[in-house]
Amino acid sequence: MRNELYAGLRRKITAITLVVSITPLLALGATIYFQFSGMYRDKIKEQIYYRAKTQADGVDLFLKERTAILGAMADTNQFNFIVEEKNLLPIFSIVNQRAGAFVDLGVIDNAGRQSAYVGPYDLAGLNYYQQPWFGEVMTKGIYISDVYTGFRQIPHFIIAVRRQENQLGWILRATIDSDVFGAIVKAAQVGRTGDAYIINSEGIFQTRPRFEGKILERSHLDPSQFGGRTTILERMDKRGKSTLYAGSWLNNDKWLLVISQEVEEEMASFYATRSIEIAIIMAGVLAIVMVTLFTTRTTVNRLRETDGRLDELNAQLVHSDKLAALGKMAAGVAHEINNPLAVILQKTGWMEDLLEDEDLSKSNSYAELKASIAKIEEHVERARKVVHGMLGYVRKMEPRLEDVDINDTIMQTLSLLSNYARINNIEIKTDFAVDLPVIASDQSQLQQVFLNIINNAIDAIRKDGLIWVRTKRDDSWLSVNIEDTGPGIPPDKQKRVFDPFFTTKEPGKGTGLGLWISHSIIEKMGGSISFETDVGKGSTFTIRIPIVVPEKK
Ligand SMILES: Nc1ncnc2c1ncn2[C@@H]1O[C@H](COP(=O)(O)OP(=O)(O)OP(=O)(O)O)[C@@H](O)[C@H]1O
Ligand SMILES: [Mg+2]
Repeated sequence: MRNELYAGLRRKITAITLVVSITPLLALGATIYFQFSGMYRDKIKEQIYYRAKTQADGVDLFLKERTAILGAMADTNQFNFIVEEKNLLPIFSIVNQRAGAFVDLGVIDNAGRQSAYVGPYDLAGLNYYQQPWFGEVMTKGIYISDVYTGFRQIPHFIIAVRRQENQLGWILRATIDSDVFGAIVKAAQVGRTGDAYIINSEGIFQTRPRFEGKILERSHLDPSQFGGRTTILERMDKRGKSTLYAGSWLNNDKWLLVISQEVEEEMASFYATRSIEIAIIMAGVLAIVMVTLFTTRTTVNRLRETDGRLDELNAQLVHSDKLAALGKMAAGVAHEINNPLAVILQKTGWMEDLLEDEDLSKSNSYAELKASIAKIEEHVERARKVVHGMLGYVRKMEPRLEDVDINDTIMQTLSLLSNYARINNIEIKTDFAVDLPVIASDQSQLQQVFLNIINNAIDAIRKDGLIWVRTKRDDSWLSVNIEDTGPGIPPDKQKRVFDPFFTTKEPGKGTGLGLWISHSIIEKMGGSISFETDVGKGSTFTIRIPIVVPEKK
């Protein structure tokens, strides 16, 4: 029953402590995790956003520079001049020196005919009149094409500017090196999973992507989803990984520069931090669990010990009560028996006298009567001993206070017993503290106690042995120690030695009142009697008496 109760208590304390201490830790961990994860994601998005924006600006600048230099060349040279290939050649090398990435340069007249050409291809004389871009340059003045394969079957794009000269328009057109252009875009590609490319408004690749497909193929991205100038989207990429796409429009919103990055790669350092956080929290939880289990166990065990001690104390209290009640009853009985005993003794004395006086001495039954009367007297005497023991105790219940020197009192007691001890070859040794104070107590009652206990020691030893009597001061207590080399008290009897009438001595030898009376006397004085015993080795009785300082007379 009790054990279940303690186990239940232990479970409850453990559970409450664990919940109360681990919950906030986990809550804190989760909060930090989500906060941090959100912040980190925002940071990644911000980075990729700015990368897309600056890269788009860079590409735009690249296109503008080239458009501007072509425009300047067209504006400063007249058609008749530039249409001579010997004049066009130095212009081609100037624009390539100043800006670079030009593959070829051509002059196209207002009928769409390539009138002059410098470059690696054989394009002189081709007619562009049917090409859709021709009309656009003629009307708008500036044109940058999408990437296409054209007459040469190689992906490229062109920049064309128109010059209006005396009612007639003509066009200066240049091809841009797709590789140089692609390399500029690729510079924005970062990490193991990062990509950077340009698609047009239909989603066709204008530069070669790293993973998603080939130039001039259709991207799986829908450009119309990129609303503002620069937009971020999160999508599954072709490999099924969650990927961030930042798209920034350029070239008058005809092209979209896309920078993509797998979320997982970007989050790698965050995941490392997360693992550390988890490890720290796990260690914390483990520590809490261990400390909780340990403290709970210690606490409950201590409680159990205290309860056990309390039980023992309760048992002692009940026992004392029982002793007191028995004492009162015994005293009453003793008183009632005392008078009849006196009468019996008186009558037997008278009967004895009668036997001598009359002729009865000559009677046949004389010897028998005499023996019977002697037997009656012997037993009455025994009964009186018991009764006197009890009455003596009851009469003297309230101690008289006088100055008592404990060592003296013990010496007097020992002198009463020395003969008895010597006959049985028992040595009594003393070890007295010399500085014991004189106390206010009842000397004859104390003597009765010492007598009883030393007597018991002698009785226990029977023959040949040693008794040590020691006194010492112990704070506000005097303690008297009586140690014998007797047989000790067997465990089943230890609880009963203070009970009235408990004796192991032969009938007629002991009343079993000695320890009971001693116990009652000492308790009345506010002291205590206890014993330690070791079966086969001996017993030690300890009497503790409070030091009561005598009043000054
Ligand atoms: N020093 C001791 N060694 C072993 N047993 C003891 C010792 N002191 C007491 N006892 C046991 O306790 C019992 C009770 O002791 P108690 O003094 O109350 O009565 P008693 O000695 O038997 O009788 P009485 O005191 O009337 O002669 C003894 O009979 C004995 O069994
Ligand atoms: Mg005794």
